[in-house]
Amino acid sequence: MTHVEELRPEGKFDKNRNMAATAPKFLSVWDIEAYYGESYIVQGVSFDIHEGEILALLGRNGAGKTSTLRTIARMDDPELKHGEIWLDHQPLHEMRSHQASQAGIQLVPEDRSIIPGLTVEENLKLAQIAPPKGWSIDRVYDLFPRLRERRNQEGVTLSGGEQQMLSIARALCRDIKVLLLDEPYEGLAPVIVQEIAKTLELIRDQGITTVIVEQNAVAALKLADRAVILDIGKVVYDGSAQEVLEDEALRAKYLAI
Ligand SMILES: Nc1ncnc2c1ncn2[C@@H]1O[C@H](COP(=O)(O)OP(=O)(O)OP(=O)(O)O)[C@@H](O)[C@H]1O
Ligand SMILES: [Mg+2]
Repeated sequence: MTHVEELRPEGKFDKNRNMAATAPKFLSVWDIEAYYGESYIVQGVSFDIHEGEILALLGRNGAGKTSTLRTIARMDDPELKHGEIWLDHQPLHEMRSHQASQAGIQLVPEDRSIIPGLTVEENLKLAQIAPPKGWSIDRVYDLFPRLRERRNQEGVTLSGGEQQMLSIARALCRDIKVLLLDEPYEGLAPVIVQEIAKTLELIRDQGITTVIVEQNAVAALKLADRAVILDIGKVVYDGSAQEVLEDEALRAKYLAI
């Protein structure tokens, strides 16, 4: 029995919406502990993701969601001091961020990190400069027709939703296995949220595994197959997303919705 299974509330394991739960683990996070200096922030987090799944990583402000994503992407801070992270049999815990990126992890941060002074297309081309190259720019444009229309526009002048599309598109231009999204819906109108959610479903259908962190928990839960909830740096729920949507008491306790 894994650490996560011990923590998983009774009866919450087999209610996943799709068959991905029976697939082998693809990304396995085991008992990770991470620090900013002396501050102990990620306090023994474990969870598994199956290939082709969308996992919603939720929790209140300051619960440790961004820190967990940054730890998985092997950013310099927070510093990983304990635990293991395996992606498709590759030990991410032994890697630096550029190696984790080559191994197939791509973090799309909250600020979207569009490069000023470059057009949409130049932003995409830049993502393909270093190997391993992922989707072709044409394939990315097929997924995001708005970006094709605006290919010659400076990236930072796009609307918020378009900028979010560009940062997801940039990740796809790299050869990724797992997409880590930090608050992709932040500041976007509901209609744009829906448009991005549809695109994320298409990306899943094309075989990419996604972890989505969101304050808009309802939108993330509707999209996701599974949910992990963090509270003060620890996993307090690991189970089906549908069940969180239906469990008002759980939502009130850990998500304040
Ligand atoms: N660079 C840092 N140095 C020190 N402490 C930090 C740093 N970044 C985050 N923290 C602390 O780590 C804790 C977890 O922060 P984190 O950003 O991971 O939370 P979060 O769940 O993403 O929150 P939010 O929903 O507000 O984005 C918080 O208490 C935060 O103050
Ligand atoms: Mg955050």
